[in-house]
Amino acid sequence: MTQGLFLSFEGIDGSGKSTQARRLAEHLRTRGREVVLTREPGGSPGAEEIRRLVLEGDPDRWSAETEALLFTAARRDHMERTILPALERGAVVVCDRFADSTRMYQGLSRGDLRAVVDKLHALMIGREPDMTLLIDMDPETGLSRALGRQGTEERFETFGADLQRRMRQGFLALAEEYADRFVVIDGNRTLEAVAAEVTQVVEARLAETPA
Ligand code: ADP
Ligand code: TYD
Repeated sequence: MTQGLFLSFEGIDGSGKSTQARRLAEHLRTRGREVVLTREPGGSPGAEEIRRLVLEGDPDRWSAETEALLFTAARRDHMERTILPALERGAVVVCDRFADSTRMYQGLSRGDLRAVVDKLHALMIGREPDMTLLIDMDPETGLSRALGRQGTEERFETFGADLQRRMRQGFLALAEEYADRFVVIDGNRTLEAVAAEVTQVVEARLAETPA
């Protein structure tokens, strides 16, 4: 039996997930909770190595199927080494992206691989977050925010605005499919306004969960 709370943030690149995840973690720590702030791909030493394989270098070096395997392998390690031990200790796990990102990016971006992604998930991961916060926003704004950051990890950002639009619609459809765990948050607002809603939604959930 796990006692903690497993939260994930999802949304298109540049929607403000990392910023909100960080702020939420800080807020919960000031309230005395143990928080494990983590991200995917990554979140454990082995998964961070896989992150470099999938996010750096020529975007076409992996097939969509191989990529789905690599993201799932990274997730399995992250679950074993970081997420499950934290939940067993009673911590709140705040994860920047999780399996819904694989459903979207590997499942939709290069053909229809959603069924393969779901099978891999059932076989190797078998668990969803308790609550998923989808930061929904206008793709043009998201893309310009994402491209405004400097860095070597541009894997999906380079695919451009059309992919971002399809991803946004895909995430909204996923929120309907998994309505029991998704909360859709309007990201087209100030950082503070978004953070206030995130805090309120999570506090309400924690009030229902024994510490
Ligand atoms: P993601 O993790 O979803 O890709 P980030 O949190 O890294 O997004 O945010 C992308 C960029 O947009 C960062 O430079 C961040 O400071 C900025 N940003 C995040 N949220 C907002 C907001 N509500 N309004 C304006 N800029 C924002
Ligand atoms: P991330 O670092 O969250 O990027 P951003 O801050 O720009 O949103 O994720 C890096 C990229 O990895 C992002 O373009 C989405 C992609 N990704 C997948 O394709 N599949 C996955 O399963 C995950 C977790 C991420």
